[in-house]
Amino acid sequence: MNTSALLRSNGLTASYGHVEALKPTDVMVGPGEFVAILGPNGAGKSTLLRAIMRLIASSGELYFEERSIAREPAHALAALGITLVPENRGIFGPMTVRENLDLGAYIRPPSARPEIEGDFEAVLALFPRLKERLAQMAGSLSGGEQQMLAIGRALMVHPRLLLLDEPSLGLAPRLAAEIFNALGQLNKRGLTILVVEQKAPLALALANRAYVMRTGKVIATPDPKDITSPDALAHLYLGEIH
Ligand SMILES: Nc1ncnc2c1ncn2[C@@H]1O[C@H](COP(=O)(O)OP(=O)(O)OP(=O)(O)O)[C@@H](O)[C@H]1O
Ligand SMILES: [Mg+2]
Repeated sequence: MNTSALLRSNGLTASYGHVEALKPTDVMVGPGEFVAILGPNGAGKSTLLRAIMRLIASSGELYFEERSIAREPAHALAALGITLVPENRGIFGPMTVRENLDLGAYIRPPSARPEIEGDFEAVLALFPRLKERLAQMAGSLSGGEQQMLAIGRALMVHPRLLLLDEPSLGLAPRLAAEIFNALGQLNKRGLTILVVEQKAPLALALANRAYVMRTGKVIATPDPKDITSPDALAHLYLGEIH
């Protein structure tokens, strides 16, 4: 047993009807790590995150700090400090930026008020564009700003493990780089991050470890330092399924 894991799955599977979209999968995220999940469309990456978050029925083992969370309801995970920034970002368009950020903190007790204020200031320091737009309706933000807000709201939960599903989706390269720069800063400050990303170079530049998925399973666990060229990455994506 690996006792140093913050999150660990063992034979985690999930199905949609009769289709097993996630075949038995073992992943591990250590405290303070930045772990990347790569893989083509339909590989099961989002399904893995949904299974970890208990958003879909799954079987197999799932541990957070060696405590089994495989049967916990989704809301219990938030209380443990596991937060997901979903692929659709999940922000509330008809509410202001400020209100969306406040929503992130709603599960925290009133006694956490000073800490919540500190987290709020930290989010605005990380994403100054949000500071300029606190009274703006979230739905009228640009795609990049919406992603910043989605991450900001997740940070207002004060997570211990942040999961993100394709944070660069639909963003221009410069904005995608800005988002990953922010994720790198958060990780340097000690936040553990598990990110699903198709723009592999962005994620690999920060990752301690990587999993490559295809057809519902992990097909490779390369050392990010070894993936130095697009060719090396293509080889992994197309490589033999073990
Ligand atoms: N709600 C659903 N109902 C039925 N099948 C689904 C559902 N969601 C996903 N699938 C199927 O499960 C498989 C894995 O999908 P998943 O969304 O996990 O892939 P992904 O790796 O996240 O892909 P992408 O990079 O396109 O987001 C796909 O074949 C997909 O069609
Ligand atoms: Mg997906």
